Amino acid sequence: MSEPPAPLRLLHLEDSDLDHELALAQLQRSGLDVRARRVETRDEFEAALARRWDAIVSDYNLPGFSGLQALRLVRARDAIVPFILVSGEIGEDLAVAAMRDGASDYLLKSGLARLAPALEHAIDAARTRAAKLEADRELAESRRRLAELARHLQTRVEAERAAIAREIHDDVGGSLTALKFDIDWIRRHSAEPALQQRAASALETVTHAIGASQRIMHNLRPAILDQGLVAALQWLAGRFEKRTGVDCLFRTGDERIGAPGQELPDGVPLVAYRTAQEALTNISKHAQAQRVTMDLSLSGGVLSLEISDDGRGLSQSDLAKAGSFGIRGLHERAGTVGGWIELGSTGGTDGGTTLLLSIPLDAALPQAASRRREDGTDAEADDDASHGTDREHDPSVWSSL
Ligand SMILES: Nc1ncnc2c1ncn2[C@@H]1O[C@H](COP(=O)(O)OP(=O)(O)OP(=O)(O)O)[C@@H](O)[C@H]1O
Ligand SMILES: [Mg+2]
Repeated sequence: MSEPPAPLRLLHLEDSDLDHELALAQLQRSGLDVRARRVETRDEFEAALARRWDAIVSDYNLPGFSGLQALRLVRARDAIVPFILVSGEIGEDLAVAAMRDGASDYLLKSGLARLAPALEHAIDAARTRAAKLEADRELAESRRRLAELARHLQTRVEAERAAIAREIHDDVGGSLTALKFDIDWIRRHSAEPALQQRAASALETVTHAIGASQRIMHNLRPAILDQGLVAALQWLAGRFEKRTGVDCLFRTGDERIGAPGQELPDGVPLVAYRTAQEALTNISKHAQAQRVTMDLSLSGGVLSLEISDDGRGLSQSDLAKAGSFGIRGLHERAGTVGGWIELGSTGGTDGGTTLLLSIPLDAALPQAASRRREDGTDAEADDDASHGTDREHDPSVWSSL
């Protein structure tokens, strides 16, 4: 058997005993089970607010106090509890003030028959509002946790990639280099032409394997960043131009941004580098552009990297694609150093797309102190593996034989 509903806890601010009794009689006649408490003065009212009420009904005219003041006191503590104002007469000004200050309803003393339905309606509305607030709060909390997880994953992935790059460098790279020496030695010390030929062919294979490992390693850890952000972005722009045939102009007002000796906060160069990489990958995949410009600047303590193309532009629906994570990942990545991403697109023939990364360096600093240096790979990793790396400028190459 289900429990009977609990009586309605009603706080009634009313200086007239008779009016209080009238109101209660109305509620009883309507079948509402009410447990009411009457208070008359401001002090009593304030003291009563320490307890929980299902609804508050207040007279408008009280000696030394008013229903509107009572309403403000209530709303300062509780945005939801239903509050019904009852007055001998209600002018338009009072009605407007009451609704503006958060009254659920207002009634005339001569129309107390409306009290019960007004109370029920106000309680329903308050319940709905409380449920919505709770749902909003849960949604915001869930979003916050998801963003936190995404950032944590980004950082972990970068750290893992850096560790794998180190292993490839130290273990695979070292072994291949030793193997290359040995095969070369065999080739030079063999008098037999067939053996020499085999050794030469093995050398070629090992050289190829070394090249492939270097490319993989570079994608895992962009060692070019050790030369500074400007050098790294210049290198990216040059490689993009060479690979795609699309003009890519890199500009910066200050060549020393992020250079050794003028380091940016930990994590910032990698975020900028990965942003440029994803933007360029997107341009080559989607934009059909003729020309790309990349601008790096540092002004007012904010590092900005803007990548613009003159391609077909993008729309909101492009950004909502279910299987697309590049730009979403950039938002999370920028967030790891206190920055953000803005995208602009005018579309059309002279449209194009602009992606702007902004990082206030003050915001990046405190987080950076507690974070490990991030290194890692990117959306271009697969792409890179199938293309030659520009070895002259790629500092991730191992020392040659
Ligand atoms: N420079 C651009 N010009 C035109 N369209 C673009 C550009 N950059 C992105 N887009 C559009 O925005 C969409 C989302 O880009 P996003 O980088 O998030 O995902 P993706 O490139 O499709 O996939 P991935 O997850 O591999 O990055 C793209 O599918 C494309 O339609
Ligand atoms: Mg992409």
